[in-house]
Amino acid sequence: MPENSCKIAVFISGGGSNLQSIIDHIEQGHINADIACVISNKPNAYGLVRAQKANIPTHINDHKNHTTRESFELELIKTLDVYNIKLIVLAGFMRVLSTTFINKYHGNILNIHPSLLPKYTGLNTHSRVLEAGDTEHGCSVHFVTSDLDEGPLVIQAKVKVDKSDTPDVLAARVLEKEHIIYPLAVKWFCENRLAFKNSKAHLDDSPLDQAVLLTQDLETLLK
Ligand code: GAR
Repeated sequence: MPENSCKIAVFISGGGSNLQSIIDHIEQGHINADIACVISNKPNAYGLVRAQKANIPTHINDHKNHTTRESFELELIKTLDVYNIKLIVLAGFMRVLSTTFINKYHGNILNIHPSLLPKYTGLNTHSRVLEAGDTEHGCSVHFVTSDLDEGPLVIQAKVKVDKSDTPDVLAARVLEKEHIIYPLAVKWFCENRLAFKNSKAHLDDSPLDQAVLLTQDLETLLK
């Protein structure tokens, strides 16, 4: 592991394909980071297997074993305290975090969401896009604040919606883009180029008034 690499905790609830894309880019030397631990609230999340294959310590914190959100989060904090975490990456983590938790790690939590925020916060984004007849869809990386899916945007990628798309087909097309924009955002954060200051995301010290849009040029940063 390179000296001074940025220590990350990745929170998951499911398949962990976003986790995998970050693991792969770290292994390929595109991101100077160390995934110190992966935490899942679901004992059977496949992402845990991906982490174990990459020799990353895993922790299961099943929300069903807690009677309150506070106790669930205290266990999260206890685990994070073991490592010297600089960044928390929510990668398909399907639990809402409290304001207390978010404030404790203020400016150091990123999330990926499968829509072009501010459109379609919440669940079932792909079906809702199809029902609305939108011709364009995509994904967004944003800093996490206590307003669910509404923190400052960092980067977005767009995809076209075909008339024949099912939610699953559309989800797969969006995921391909997620696997590019999330590693890029993590890379920028770990290079100290991306920060959350004065309620705004900043890239290279300039406030982002809107999300960076993924271009082919940006994609080459990961090649
Ligand atoms: C991804 O599509 C991610 O954007 C979404 O869950 C999926 C996780 O996939 N996240 C949310 O909906 C959060 N609100 P993965 O487990 O294969 O990375």
